[in-house]
Amino acid sequence: MINRRYLGGALVTAASVLLIAALGESGAREAGGASAAESVVDGNGNLHVPENYRREYEYLGSWAVAADQGQGSKDVHVVYASPGAAEAYKAGGHFPDGMVLVKEVFQAATAPMTTGTVSHADVLKGWFVMVRDTTGRHAGNRLWGDGWGWSWFDAGNPTKTTSTDYKANCRGCHVPAQAAEWVYVGGYPSLRPEGVR
Ligand code: HEC
Repeated sequence: MINRRYLGGALVTAASVLLIAALGESGAREAGGASAAESVVDGNGNLHVPENYRREYEYLGSWAVAADQGQGSKDVHVVYASPGAAEAYKAGGHFPDGMVLVKEVFQAATAPMTTGTVSHADVLKGWFVMVRDTTGRHAGNRLWGDGWGWSWFDAGNPTKTTSTDYKANCRGCHVPAQAAEWVYVGGYPSLRPEGVR
């Protein structure tokens, strides 16, 4: 979470509690967003995959990409958001500055099971990471633009991106989601208004 580098766990916990107490609920949400960005972006705007996101982030949803031939899926994608981001989106209709999205890409395996022909996440191929940036912090960096920092990481190396330019590597494919701040919100039940399942 916040700055393991500078502070011991107990201090961090105490600091978070004080911060949350001082800022109130919406302030705490913003603070959560900012610290999420801080934990995945270095001073030059280089991203890496957040540590412990499976434990600390909120699950948003999954995508199954159909096999080119035959039954089942070839890939399964699993998407997570940093804590508080989904709640902020539902409350305000915008993704908050500093929040982080992680999409895991798995090769799928398909087999007959007692429920039918079933595909599941098998071998991890890598991660897509997006960091929300509403202030243009890294305007000169080609991995940043349109309100996000964008990067891909191969499974073997979560700390160094192999993508070089979001306009070439990401943007074109996300144009259909442009009106929703470039995110495919339709796949994520926890972003839907309360009462809609
Ligand atoms: C081939 C098209 C394609 C490319 C290239 C692509 N994306 Fe996506 N991305 C999608 C689609 C479609 C989805 C949602 C459905 C899915 O996962 O299959 C998605 C979902 C995501 C998500 C989950 C949040 C959301 O928008 O729903 C993240 C994070 C993401 N992409 C990041 C990136 C980044 C970063 C890059 C570039 C390094 C990138 N994508 C390149 C098509 C693409």
